[in-house]
Amino acid sequence: MRYKDQIDLLKLPHHIAIIMDGNGRWAKDKGKLRIFGHHKGVLSVRDVVEGACELDLKYLTLYTFSSENWNRPKLEVMAIMELMVTTIHKEIANFMKKNVRLNAIGDLHMLPKKCYNELNNAIETTAANTGLTLTLALSYSSRREIVQAAKNIASKVKSGELDINDIDEELFENNLYTGGMPDPELLIRTSGEHRISNYLLWQIAYAELYFTAKLWPDFRKEDLYEAILDYQKRERRFGMTSEQVN
Ligand code: FPP
Repeated sequence: MRYKDQIDLLKLPHHIAIIMDGNGRWAKDKGKLRIFGHHKGVLSVRDVVEGACELDLKYLTLYTFSSENWNRPKLEVMAIMELMVTTIHKEIANFMKKNVRLNAIGDLHMLPKKCYNELNNAIETTAANTGLTLTLALSYSSRREIVQAAKNIASKVKSGELDINDIDEELFENNLYTGGMPDPELLIRTSGEHRISNYLLWQIAYAELYFTAKLWPDFRKEDLYEAILDYQKRERRFGMTSEQVN
């Protein structure tokens, strides 16, 4: 039986986050330039988004470009930005057809103007869609996001808009870029690395972690389904005992 047919649709995670890793190694293994791997990685993105839509998943968040990625060779950074512009432009029609709402988190003002504008245009065009919310983490650093949330709250306390006793987990969460979104229940990382790499540190407090050796350009919707099945076999205890949760 295919993985998809084994999934319990009543126990789907609401939100899946993915660290798409291994594009560079995939290309190198084939004797190609790293950017070739990023181009192939876009095909994986398309397939995985399609797979998420088929399951009627509500939130998918992709680590597309970290704040640290700005330190890569200039040519690679420029090529990724260019790839983003063309991909987002091309995908808008598909998002509309599949009822996908595009969203982005991160320090978006760092993006080249062309990329920022293309992204904003796609976000506005798809804003009323009610299916999958596809969030691209771009120029994203979780630590920066947390610092930014702390600053927002501090300035509200300073101005008297908030009292210090109003600060709780819910208020803090609502000041993160992901405010209003449920936390990911499942975090997938490809390429055999077992790291979180400054991704959604607050939000993954209770997420199940799934690591696969597959490099991102080889990852397809069946791999997503396999990860969901693995997640569904786990017992999520949230600090309680097995007897309590059963
Ligand atoms: C990680 O592989 C991948 C990236 C930093 C870029 C990911 C970008 C894409 C797949 C393009 C997506 C575009 C859209 C619009 C969603 P790596 O380069 O770190 O691989 P390595 O670890 O093997 O070097």
